[in-house]
Amino acid sequence: MKLDEGLEKYILDHSSQEDPVLAELNRETWVKTVHPQMIAGHLQGKVLEMISYMIRPERILEIGTFTGYSSICLAKGLAKGGLLYTIDRDDEITEFATTYINKSGNADQINLLCGDAREIIPGLDETFDLVFLDGEKDEYLDYYQLVFPKLRAGGFILADNVLWGGKVLEVPDSGDHFTRGIMAFNAEIRKDPMVETVILPIRDGITVIRKK
Ligand SMILES: C[S@@+](CC[C@H](N)C(=O)[O-])C[C@H]1O[C@@H](n2cnc3c(N)ncnc32)[C@H](O)[C@@H]1O
Repeated sequence: MKLDEGLEKYILDHSSQEDPVLAELNRETWVKTVHPQMIAGHLQGKVLEMISYMIRPERILEIGTFTGYSSICLAKGLAKGGLLYTIDRDDEITEFATTYINKSGNADQINLLCGDAREIIPGLDETFDLVFLDGEKDEYLDYYQLVFPKLRAGGFILADNVLWGGKVLEVPDSGDHFTRGIMAFNAEIRKDPMVETVILPIRDGITVIRKK
């Protein structure tokens, strides 16, 4: 959701400053990538970092690394000795992300895997405390079904872009797979008796899902 510019500036001016490595990563993402708007950025990144600190997870799974911004933010809140797995299928972008993960000071707690998350997740022999869904929007339900058995009871899933720029309020075209995918995901989660859920109206909407 587009915030009023003045309010957004006020929020950023009254939130902790962006970490210098993340600020450099943010700038370079906007200069060097084709779809820079996919980056979490300062406000959402700080929210993810804070949520991670609140949970102090031992194991985090992220689907959709892109340039590594949200990976680094989430990894900051890991418990001592904890590990974040992040998956992206774009090998050019994972090279970019690796450079910044190495600069971040969190590299020893981040395991970047290159490939299709739907193929990689079944082979991960882990129980996750926190999962961040930020891959392809028409694949969210697939990710959810694959990660749910690997999420501990009381664990959390965060799903990004669940308002999809407001398109969830419209009737989507038959070819608009992303809007349809997000709408199907939102409807399915709401019905699932195994979870509690709330949508935070931050940036493009983040659903917080708690496994009962
Ligand atoms: C919105 S971006 C992720 C942004 C990143 N989490 C951040 O906040 O900076 C989505 C990423 O998911 C990746 N992706 C999409 N579908 C995927 C899949 N099935 N498996 C692995 N990665 C996927 C894309 O290559 C892209 O880099």
